[in-house]
Amino acid sequence: MNFNFHTNHRLLLISIFTGFLTLSLIIAVFPAKFVQDNNPPLTNKEFLSPEASRGLEIFVAEGCVTCHTQQVRNIATDKMWGKRPSIPADFADNKRLGFWRSTPSLLGTERTGPDLTNVGNRQGDVWHYIHLYNPRAVVPESIMPSYPWLFKSKAQAGPGDQVINIPDDFKDNPEDIIVATQRAEHLVAYLNSLKQAEILKTSTPEFIEYDWMKREPVAQPIATTEASEVDQEEILLDNRGPKDYERQCQACHQANGEGIPGAFPSLKGSPIVLDESPDQMINIILNGFDRPNEYGAMPALGVVLSDEQVAAIVNFERNHWGNKAPKTTVAHVKEIRNKTAANQ
Ligand code: HEC
Ligand code: HEC
Repeated sequence: MNFNFHTNHRLLLISIFTGFLTLSLIIAVFPAKFVQDNNPPLTNKEFLSPEASRGLEIFVAEGCVTCHTQQVRNIATDKMWGKRPSIPADFADNKRLGFWRSTPSLLGTERTGPDLTNVGNRQGDVWHYIHLYNPRAVVPESIMPSYPWLFKSKAQAGPGDQVINIPDDFKDNPEDIIVATQRAEHLVAYLNSLKQAEILKTSTPEFIEYDWMKREPVAQPIATTEASEVDQEEILLDNRGPKDYERQCQACHQANGEGIPGAFPSLKGSPIVLDESPDQMINIILNGFDRPNEYGAMPALGVVLSDEQVAAIVNFERNHWGNKAPKTTVAHVKEIRNKTAANQ
């Protein structure tokens, strides 16, 4: 046997190939198999509907993943994107798109826009349509591109058309009727399906909070000797109200509280907001709202909001933009949450 690499080309090729194979197995194949075997899909995760699956392909085709992640990291700064950090099992049921197309890796690497892991619990159909047509129509300072090719302008809506109430300023011609194409409907079905599943079997991972992530408290409540506990709560709620409103409600009801005609009602001067009793308003925030009227449905935000956030937002909306109505408390929100949960 000739062991000289310089003269035995067969030995050279076999050695290279064996080395390549061994390294591939150790570095890629075995670890992948280990992860796959130990992370079965979560039992209570909903499967994608056929429409949502097509929506996923459109999400890939339009390149949304360049700006949006779908992974909640286990550090405290990511807390706002989900109830818990993502785990490998969250991605276990991702499938190949076809024989020639591999499994799309939609975890993303860059967050130019928000993480979308749980966006199905945050926004509703109408908002998504307006936002995709032109993000500036709902988020004035947005830098997300518009996707007008997912919509059609028509002089008159046909039967079965999904008409989107776009504010006139954002249409080429105010008379145009904007209708969602099937691609837009599928994409929105996909966005609505993005909901973080609860972990039932294994223990839920925790968020890690490093010292540098801890934020300074926004403002200290006034001296304890003078302020009663009730007053202190009110001050804390007043401090967080504007930020909570901005994060949770402003996308639809807008910074000036006036909403968008035909899409989201005004909270400024709204009889529901100004009602002596805050109960209906709290119920709307926790459980959503869908009257038969010109507006779409408001999503139920009870899943993403704590009682404290709801109370802070209620007090803010009832006493802002010229609104004036009595404030509520965290305990009262809790009471309504329990009462309405029992009725469902
Ligand atoms: C150039 C980067 C960029 C691209 C590409 C992009 N987005 Fe965005 N997206 C953003 C930014 C920035 C925001 C935050 C401002 C806003 O709400 O418009 C955002 C917000 C969103 C939101 C709201 C998230 C929330 O937390 O409420 C959704 C949903 C969304 N994008 C979906 C999409 C979809 C679907 C696509 C592909 C059709 C897409 N985006 C493409 C940058 C981008
Ligand atoms: C995804 C869009 C969206 C978000 C986010 C949203 N809303 Fe709404 N909201 C709506 C729509 C749509 C309606 C009208 C529902 C109807 O009339 O059927 C509505 C109605 C309301 C009403 C009733 C007002 C009236 O006079 O009719 C209140 C109060 C309200 N929302 C408060 C809030 C609060 C507080 C938040 C934040 C915690 C919030 N909304 C977040 C879409 C939204």
